[in-house]
Amino acid sequence: MTHFSYRDGELFAEKVSLTAIAERYGTPTYVYSRAALTEHFRAYSEALNDYPHLVCYAVKANSNIGVLNILARLGAGFDIVSVGELERVLAAGGDASKVIFSGVGKLPHEMARALEAGIHCFNVESEAELEVLNEVAGECGTVANISLRVNPDVDAKTHPYISTGLKENKFGIDIHRAPDVYSRASELPNINIVGVDCHIGSQLTDTSPFIDALQRVLALVDELSARGIALQHLDLGGGLGVRYQNEQPPHPAEYIAALRRELGDRDLTLVLEPGRSIAANAGVLLTRVQYLKPGDEKNFAIVDAAMNDMIRPALYQAWLSIDPVIPREEGNSRHWDIVGPVCETGDFLGKDRALAIEPNDLLCVGSSGAYGFTMSSNYNSRGRAAEIMVDGDQAYEVRQRESLADLIRGETILPV
Ligand code: LLP
Repeated sequence: MTHFSYRDGELFAEKVSLTAIAERYGTPTYVYSRAALTEHFRAYSEALNDYPHLVCYAVKANSNIGVLNILARLGAGFDIVSVGELERVLAAGGDASKVIFSGVGKLPHEMARALEAGIHCFNVESEAELEVLNEVAGECGTVANISLRVNPDVDAKTHPYISTGLKENKFGIDIHRAPDVYSRASELPNINIVGVDCHIGSQLTDTSPFIDALQRVLALVDELSARGIALQHLDLGGGLGVRYQNEQPPHPAEYIAALRRELGDRDLTLVLEPGRSIAANAGVLLTRVQYLKPGDEKNFAIVDAAMNDMIRPALYQAWLSIDPVIPREEGNSRHWDIVGPVCETGDFLGKDRALAIEPNDLLCVGSSGAYGFTMSSNYNSRGRAAEIMVDGDQAYEVRQRESLADLIRGETILPV
């Protein structure tokens, strides 16, 4: 989190104090750093510079159009999983011809819109989807570029909820069936085969599962080539982990060097779909302590952010750093469970954190730029947080806090 650091005893995002952001925009608030997003994206694009590539940022990690626009300006492509994400990319100035459409359940109307926009490729996840896409493309009078997302049956050694490349997972087509499905695809009039894709999971902290998957996919590429099906690109998905606590994930440059060693001199464009490794450590969640409730068993610090704002601790037992924006003398510290106002025991942001805090203090939840706001909800009728983008010494409100009117928009009561 190099762009979030203390200066004179106060936590800053780039050159803007988090206290100033909280005073101006309230809390809870997500704060992102343009410099961090840029640095993380460039780690990929620079390592691939002299190699044919397309880095498609996974929009699901953080889909704020302010974030997407910064990445689009750096030349990013985008990995989307819904027409909603496609419209966000277009609204943010993204280039449709660099968009890859992933996901197991694409709807015909989503396929039609993506074809109309002229996306780069569909990552097809089943034979049934392939047939529907062929029909939709026919109705649209066009041809759909496709990759098959294969399931290589590799253990990503990550949390089971974010592991996707095992046979037991719903994702992709069994790699052993893939040659037959490619043959079928090659017969379909409105399908144009361009690549192969796999994504084995998220928050991987070791390159070996990626290499294992890549070797299996390359064996498939070679087999297809022997059958006369030549691919133009290989998409290895996202999944590179970040440091939340003590993890030591490889730097993107190290990861890419390892991939390049395997790829050898094959004539393939390398597509990657990183989400977390670009956004997670480019954002924090700012929250204020409301009440302190010390007790015999536990001390609770009740803050104004909750599981509806940041669900990762509740859903994946994720550990996120929690630091005071203005640290107090450590002598007064106790162990606190940092909890929100939502009526669920699972509503916590962190447990057993040694902190010296008082009511009204601001806390900064680290590494929250990915799968933070995008997984937030209105549970307990809580409006979703504001989102602020810091750029040098400027802060921009890239999404307003939701109001009560936003909360009930589209709802009605019966006439009698
Ligand atoms: N491509 C595909 C097809 C994906 O399903 C995903 C993430 C990505 C790319 C991006 O992966 P990343 O580089 O961010 O690891 N909500 C969970 C993470 C779910 C990831 C889902 N797929 C969390 O908060 O940990």
